[in-house]
Amino acid sequence: MREGQPTAIQLAAYTAPAFWIDTVDLTFDLDPAKTRVLNKMRLRRNPDVAAQPLRLDGEELNLARVLVNGGGTSFKMDGNQLVLENLPEGHDAFDLEIFTTCNPEKNTQLMGLYVSNESFFTQCEAEGFRRITYFLDRPDVMASYTVTLRADKAKYPVLLSNGNLVEQGALEDGPNGPRHFAKWVDPHKKPCYLFALVAGQLVAREQRIVSRSGTEHLLQVFVRPGDLDKTEHAMNSLMASVAWDEARFGLPLDLERFMIVATSDFNMGAMENKGLNIFNTKYVLANPATATDMDFGNIESVVGHEYFHNWTGNRITCRDWFQLSLKEGLTVFRDQEFSQDMAGEASARAVKRIEDVRVLRTVQFAEDAGPMAHPVRPDSYVEINNFYTVTIYEKGAEVVRMMQTLVATPTDSLGRDGFAKGMKLYFDRHDGQAVTCDDFAQAIADANPGSALALHLDTFKHWYSQAGTPRLQATGAYNAAERTYTLTLSQSCPATPDQDRKAPFVIPVTLGLLSRDGAALPLQLAGSSEAAPQHTLVLTEASASYSFVNIDSEPVPSLLRGFSAPVVLEDGLNADDLLILLAHDSDPFNQWEAGQRLMLQSALVAIQQNKDLTGQPVLSDALVAALRNVLRHPTLDAAFKDLALTLPSENYIADQLDVVDPQRVHALRETMRLQLASALQADWQWAWDAHKNNGAYSPDAKSAGRRALSGLAMTMLCVAAVQSGDAVTPGRVYQQFKDAGNMTDRFNALSALVVSGHALAQDALALFHKLFQHEALVIDKWFALQAGAPDRAGDVLPRVRQLMQHPDFSLRNPNRARSLIFSYCSANPAGFHRADAAGYVYWSEQVLALDAINPQVAARLARAMDRWSRLAEPYRSAAKVAIERVAAKTDLSNDVREVISRALSAA
Ligand code: PHE
Ligand code: ZN
Repeated sequence: MREGQPTAIQLAAYTAPAFWIDTVDLTFDLDPAKTRVLNKMRLRRNPDVAAQPLRLDGEELNLARVLVNGGGTSFKMDGNQLVLENLPEGHDAFDLEIFTTCNPEKNTQLMGLYVSNESFFTQCEAEGFRRITYFLDRPDVMASYTVTLRADKAKYPVLLSNGNLVEQGALEDGPNGPRHFAKWVDPHKKPCYLFALVAGQLVAREQRIVSRSGTEHLLQVFVRPGDLDKTEHAMNSLMASVAWDEARFGLPLDLERFMIVATSDFNMGAMENKGLNIFNTKYVLANPATATDMDFGNIESVVGHEYFHNWTGNRITCRDWFQLSLKEGLTVFRDQEFSQDMAGEASARAVKRIEDVRVLRTVQFAEDAGPMAHPVRPDSYVEINNFYTVTIYEKGAEVVRMMQTLVATPTDSLGRDGFAKGMKLYFDRHDGQAVTCDDFAQAIADANPGSALALHLDTFKHWYSQAGTPRLQATGAYNAAERTYTLTLSQSCPATPDQDRKAPFVIPVTLGLLSRDGAALPLQLAGSSEAAPQHTLVLTEASASYSFVNIDSEPVPSLLRGFSAPVVLEDGLNADDLLILLAHDSDPFNQWEAGQRLMLQSALVAIQQNKDLTGQPVLSDALVAALRNVLRHPTLDAAFKDLALTLPSENYIADQLDVVDPQRVHALRETMRLQLASALQADWQWAWDAHKNNGAYSPDAKSAGRRALSGLAMTMLCVAAVQSGDAVTPGRVYQQFKDAGNMTDRFNALSALVVSGHALAQDALALFHKLFQHEALVIDKWFALQAGAPDRAGDVLPRVRQLMQHPDFSLRNPNRARSLIFSYCSANPAGFHRADAAGYVYWSEQVLALDAINPQVAARLARAMDRWSRLAEPYRSAAKVAIERVAAKTDLSNDVREVISRALSAA
């Protein structure tokens, strides 16, 4: 686990492998303390690469035997690599047999083969396979796998691996009784990061389906006995995913059997191993009593995401890990589109888009402005695990989305058909290969000759090579005499680590124009004979101007509709302009955005005034009235109203400031919330009454939106009640908490009491724990809610420290560690950034404690301090001391070391 000096791996240093591995035949004797792995490979030299020794990766393995073509051979160790210098010369294939053992029950990193709740699981992406056997652990080496699993039958009745089960049966009895085996053959070649095995006491929900082409498939969702009643939604999501990929992209399921297995010990969300997806229980298990609407939505999108990887990631994989976004950005784009299509109606699609953009802007923009900023295709890394980031995933998805926008035509205004054609060409060219982001972009462009993407492909690809969030400035000039409106767009991009100067990006800017009374104006570019309600400009240079003709009065521009590019828009609109967009914009994204910007502008004005914030109104009467109109609007969706009436987060407000005083940001947001709660009290009461009854639970977008709005109303009512001393409303909320027919309503009520700081919160928390003490995922929510609660006189940290002692807490379980420690350090700025530095001390303790157990999880926690250099004093100096305290530890993992040294270099 502890390596020597970490060295950075460079994209520019890529060379093809010196050997290919054609087939792999693995036999496992599964034993928690000592699993034996026999690895028989057939290799040959890569004729395109100069002859050289074979260097196989391995980590924490005990090597017992190496045979070449059945006979002994000489070998040596070089660090973690097994080096074979005397292999047969020439280009004929040869056999290599390696016998090793490993210790799964001691594997707390959860990479490679590990034990969780008495069952065996594997995680190989990115470089976990080398913890199972010696191998060329790189994604461009694709092999055919045959896997035999042997284990005690009573403890491990279910034995799974990739592909098809070809044989199973009894073995001779072992010391613990009967043993058995199962043999699996994967019909598809794959890189080793997609290998998986599972063994244990599991039960499955099964479903047979017939694809469009008439082939039959078996879908299975495996869970621990007792969890079967929480698998229906995952299975429904899987069936919908299979149907969607066939309908939208013509991509069918290419396996007889597709399996999902849930485990409660998992570093990430889920993993797309070929035919055998392994999932964090959080993204599989749900029933109305234990899971919220958000859980149901996440399960649908993660099940979709992993399933869609079967083509984008598995059939065509990455040449090297610098190309990670080739599969992740594309697959996130696909899962976002899937969720939108599942949501159905235009308004529900827009809600999903707003939610996705909110994540991008609060998390990815912050990453792009901090010490871990990196391009969608990084140039170098120390530890690849640190690059499973929102930049690779979410910004990568935006890059793919822009490609779709840029292949649009008059008859295909969204670019869907052009993009689908591009996908088809991508598979025609590269199916079965390990390729690069360039290959993908080239295929989409080549399939759409003459498109803006094809014309500007080289400039477009700066999105892959340059980090940082571009700024897009827009200024409009109206000429009344000529009835023209001229829009000038210009772009710039701030420096990021290792990249001082940036070349222009290709930025698609979808826009509309509104008259000041809110009517949509037709857009007619000078020189064009056509007018349309909406248009997409494509900015390819530092600056450009566009003239629109036949405009009768000075318009309000609605720019970057649907968030058509991942940029910061600076259009100089004032409050009056934004109020017009909030009331009338036909683009729901920009309508929502106008409200957010109005709230943000008010916040920034207040924060920069040097005065006490408590009790001062921050939002103007006009804004409060406009928000009331949205809340009471007769036709807008409840889900949209919930988003529109939710204040920008503390982290998002902080991101707009050069120097951040987290306590001041918190006080300000609390003040705004209290103002909205009090000023709209009657409206919140109406909203709660009108949306709280939704009949039998169903996770559909419409009823989920109603529950979300009723939840926001409850919180606002409790906030106002705590202020006014009214005891009736909190009592009713407590009653709803007790009577709720589903977890969403129950948790929203609990959260309203906790967030408002009402005295009933303590009783409610105790009762909640009692009701759900045997539901691990619900107990995670219980920890997270308390760790993320608004700080009142420094009360959160003592509570977090106390919860660390709770019998249900465990540092070893990543979900539990995240629910308590991450919720506090990353999601509760005011609780965490304390003037006495106690939050930072806690953070450094937990990073070090976690690093000894699980470096990947520790490195994620380390990132809670990414933006320390922008903090006001005394926070800034205290944060630096804490980071230095971690850096001083000599045996840090590479994972944590990389994050910490980048953070320190930001000073
Ligand atoms: N490839 C997984 C996904 O995005 C994420 C993952 C990465 C899971 C590394 C585990 C380890 O779907
Ligand atoms: Zn993925």
